[in-house]
Amino acid sequence: MRPIEIERLGGVVGAAVHGVDLSKPLDDAAFAAILEAWHKHSLLVFHDQRLEPEDHIGFARRFGEIENHVLKANLMPSHPEILLSSNKKKADGKRVGRAYNGEYWHSDGAYLPTPSRASLLYGIEIPIGYGDTMFASTHAAYETLSQPYKDLLNGLTCAHEFHQTYRTNKDRLAEFKVSAEENEYTSSPVTVHPATHTHPETGRRALFVDPSFATGFLELESSESDTLLAFLRDHLTCPAFTYRHRWQPNDLLLWDNRSLVHAAVVDYDDSMPRYLHRVTVKGDPPQR
Ligand code: OGA
Ligand code: MN
Repeated sequence: MRPIEIERLGGVVGAAVHGVDLSKPLDDAAFAAILEAWHKHSLLVFHDQRLEPEDHIGFARRFGEIENHVLKANLMPSHPEILLSSNKKKADGKRVGRAYNGEYWHSDGAYLPTPSRASLLYGIEIPIGYGDTMFASTHAAYETLSQPYKDLLNGLTCAHEFHQTYRTNKDRLAEFKVSAEENEYTSSPVTVHPATHTHPETGRRALFVDPSFATGFLELESSESDTLLAFLRDHLTCPAFTYRHRWQPNDLLLWDNRSLVHAAVVDYDDSMPRYLHRVTVKGDPPQR
């Protein structure tokens, strides 16, 4: 096998990994090289992978315990570790999976007591040139704040809730409501996280305020909280902190939800089929 090569993609996040076939068992040295690159770049892209669900799940397991998504109706029946993300429809008119998933800036599982460590998204059918995914570094967002803002945020905790996206995106509210009921995810527990955290593996600090799931800061008056959230949503997605991935079929993306927020670019529609598989690895509660 060729040695593993890492090619940087974005200014602050993203690298392509060459010379790896994820359908074959990875030896410890190859895995260590991948882990090191992942810690450095937060998002890794593996092109031209041919992955059966078992291969995809098997690689994800190297990063920890798999966490099945809360939207049960969108899980692959034979492999519930896989969340189906697709705008395609079955013969009965129902969607094959969750359509237009991740349309707003977010990090996976930020609404859970244990936000997701890693997400592994495998593109199977891609509308070429459309449906890019954007990533933004939450480390860069933290590091570029002034010291008084860092000090303020280091003293705050922030509430997060899955259903917040249903409330704030009125165009999709009806669809989301149906989807929530179909998925039996009608309750929406509130989870409180520190507003900043230290990455448990790299020691680097980052913001932990999710642009979609955060509802407010517990220590602030509501008008202060709303203003600070609005500023942070804007700041977290500053163009200088981003990388935009243009998908090719058979790309596998591996990203770190402790270091990034991401968003699907929905510039395609039902006439352009898109079909992906996602496996998510459980993380730890964020710690200051
Ligand atoms: C996800 C997600 C974005 C996309 O799968 O977690 O946000 O572009 N996907 O499909
Ligand atoms: Mn996502």
